[in-house]
Amino acid sequence: MEARVALITGANRGIGFAAAKALLARGYRVILSGRDRSAVERAAAEIGAEPLVLDVTRAEDAEAALAFVRERFGRLDALINNAGVLLDEGVRGLEVPLEAVARTFETNVYGALRLAQAFAPMMVERRYGRIVNVSSIMGSLAHAGPGYLAYRSSKAALNMITRVLAAELKGTGVLVNAVHPGWVRTRMGGPAAPLSPEEGARALVWAATLPDDGPTGGFFEGEGRPLPW
Ligand SMILES: NC(=O)c1ccc[n+]([C@@H]2O[C@H](COP(=O)([O-])OP(=O)(O)OC[C@H]3O[C@@H](n4cnc5c(N)ncnc54)[C@H](OP(=O)(O)O)[C@@H]3O)[C@@H](O)[C@H]2O)c1
Repeated sequence: MEARVALITGANRGIGFAAAKALLARGYRVILSGRDRSAVERAAAEIGAEPLVLDVTRAEDAEAALAFVRERFGRLDALINNAGVLLDEGVRGLEVPLEAVARTFETNVYGALRLAQAFAPMMVERRYGRIVNVSSIMGSLAHAGPGYLAYRSSKAALNMITRVLAAELKGTGVLVNAVHPGWVRTRMGGPAAPLSPEEGARALVWAATLPDDGPTGGFFEGEGRPLPW
């Protein structure tokens, strides 16, 4: 069987980069994408992945990514919507500039939806696909607290998108899930976080490699522990 193909957004560093390494180790062909050409090329060369410049906020980049994948691989088995920003650390929801909320949504919500919309038809055609939306427990309504309004709301919206797309894709062979990587030592998570990027990436790899009878429309941490919405 031809090796499976995975596309990971925001994979030049952090959890996405660790997920790229883990999928390569499983024999996947990995398209390592990100918005900065030199960072993407350096990261991809380091691990033997296929580099792709893709800023998820740019519709033309998403279209070019689809054309590239079609031409180069003719298939996409797993899409990992990992690119994300946290712009309202230490700011109260009562004071967060709406512009920061909008910019957060551009990447964390519309970026992920844009790519899912672009690649789902190709997956449905082949009756196989795994869409992984990298969410956060911070987006859980059940766990909501003060602060991080933009970030929390963006991940809550991503969770809803996961539910809706999973329902619409039911029975097509395409599974859509949201995952929380845990609190991870990356530029976003900071040095005090307990998990390494490799440990955080486990949830992404689990959801990207689910068997055909695996779950869809769920919210998980680790390797399949359900989380409250
Ligand atoms: N770290 C944690 O504790 C934690 C916890 C829960 C969830 N998460 C989620 O896990 C995912 C990965 O986070 P991380 O901790 O690995 O963060 P990170 O180290 O800050 O990496 C974020 C990645 O996203 C990329 N990115 C940002 N905006 C982009 C855009 N418009 N287009 C394409 N790529 C873009 C960044 O690219 P540049 O290098 O160009 O900036 C970088 O590669 C995020 O969705 C985050 O919300 C993280």
